[in-house]
Amino acid sequence: MSKKRLGIGFIGGGFISRFHIRSLIGVRDVDVIGVLSRTKKSAEETASLSREIGVGDAKVFESIMEMVADPDIDALWICSPNFTRLEVMEEIVAAIESGRGGLVGVTCEKPLGRNVAEARKMLQLVQKVELLDGYLENQVFAPAVTRGKEIIWARGASISGRPYLARAAEEHSGPHRLWFWDGELQGGGVLNDMMCHSVEEARFMLTPPGADRSVLTPVSVQAYANCLKWQREKYAKILSENSGGKTDYLKRPAEDFARSLIEYRTDDGETLVVETTTSWSFVGAGLRLSMELLGPEYSLSINTLDTGLKVFFSRNVVGSAGEDLVEKQNAETGLMPVISNEEDEYGYTAENRHMVQSFLAGKRPEENFSDGVNVTELLMTAYMSVEEGRTISFPPPDLENFIPAVARGEWNPRKS
Ligand SMILES: NC(=O)c1ccc[n+]([C@@H]2O[C@H](COP(=O)([O-])OP(=O)(O)OC[C@H]3O[C@@H](n4cnc5c(N)ncnc54)[C@H](O)[C@@H]3O)[C@@H](O)[C@H]2O)c1
Repeated sequence: MSKKRLGIGFIGGGFISRFHIRSLIGVRDVDVIGVLSRTKKSAEETASLSREIGVGDAKVFESIMEMVADPDIDALWICSPNFTRLEVMEEIVAAIESGRGGLVGVTCEKPLGRNVAEARKMLQLVQKVELLDGYLENQVFAPAVTRGKEIIWARGASISGRPYLARAAEEHSGPHRLWFWDGELQGGGVLNDMMCHSVEEARFMLTPPGADRSVLTPVSVQAYANCLKWQREKYAKILSENSGGKTDYLKRPAEDFARSLIEYRTDDGETLVVETTTSWSFVGAGLRLSMELLGPEYSLSINTLDTGLKVFFSRNVVGSAGEDLVEKQNAETGLMPVISNEEDEYGYTAENRHMVQSFLAGKRPEENFSDGVNVTELLMTAYMSVEEGRTISFPPPDLENFIPAVARGEWNPRKS
């Protein structure tokens, strides 16, 4: 690509687009040119955030065709809900094939698809029109993760041997939008929504620096899921009331707790283990991301709620509820951890820097749709394990056609 700056457009004007836009303050050579969303209001709000913070004179677009045709837009960031993945990608491909414009690349938020067939189709479509592809898994770019990996491998693994166990957990008290709670629209429950992070972050940590992800081969997946909190009558009622009766967790719940154990074999024949746990039923200060990496003579640990900055508000400070201290904040008083720059800490800044610089250099990003496909394959195998109550050898037959029972509206742990 001969341009020195990348013009980008956002598809989706919601929560995550705004996170990305705020992170761009720390990214060079990029301008937000526009936002397309389902509602004009969300597109306008997100575009105006970009203008206000000075990361691009963004305007509102009416269609993907119009975005692709705009010569100032070089790449699109797909940040609309999971159930729109294929329609969005198909429109991008149709716009390019119509010859009205071109792009250098696209990035797509996690998960790449709601199931293996969708994720593989996303990869196929992006390759059909020869676009560079970036999979937006922010956690493999989080500074604690990348710096931790660098140190552990340079000092510990080089002297005493590679790490053998990675543990990762993602927990909060439940998603911010109704569509996430719907198994069909989202693709599953918390396993699909949040274990995608843990699985990829753990695989990244166990892979030697600079090595291809293929040096680790998944051997088996064992998983468990349940609906611990949101199927209780009191909480199911809250979901029902918030959705005008549409979200019925008594009849059609999605899992709010899941764990998995993935066994890998390395290219030199060793066994490595990834242990993940994930929940929408964790009530603490807010979102908690934790990770441990264990090897023969060392360990690493990260907990995003162990912040350097803490504030205390006495019971006499009674203000409005907010998310100004930490994502998915649950309280406003007492001793509260504060993440002073969430965009940096969770990895969005480094992620977008990598995507922008890769596209400008005409290179495929290191985290790309093939990784998104691999993650989806592991998550779907985890759902199979939950449903069959046994460890599943990887890859299981018929993974391509597998749709989890929760995504078909047929999962209910209280009935089985
Ligand atoms: N990396 C992370 O940690 C992280 C965090 C949150 C969300 N996400 C992912 O980002 C995506 C969006 O999540 P969100 O929290 O921003 O959701 P959201 O509901 O807050 O925002 C989605 C936006 O997309 C718009 N939209 C809906 N259909 C559309 C369509 N067909 N075309 C264009 N716009 C459309 C909606 O109007 C809304 O503005 C999801 O895939 C989610 O999994 C990732």
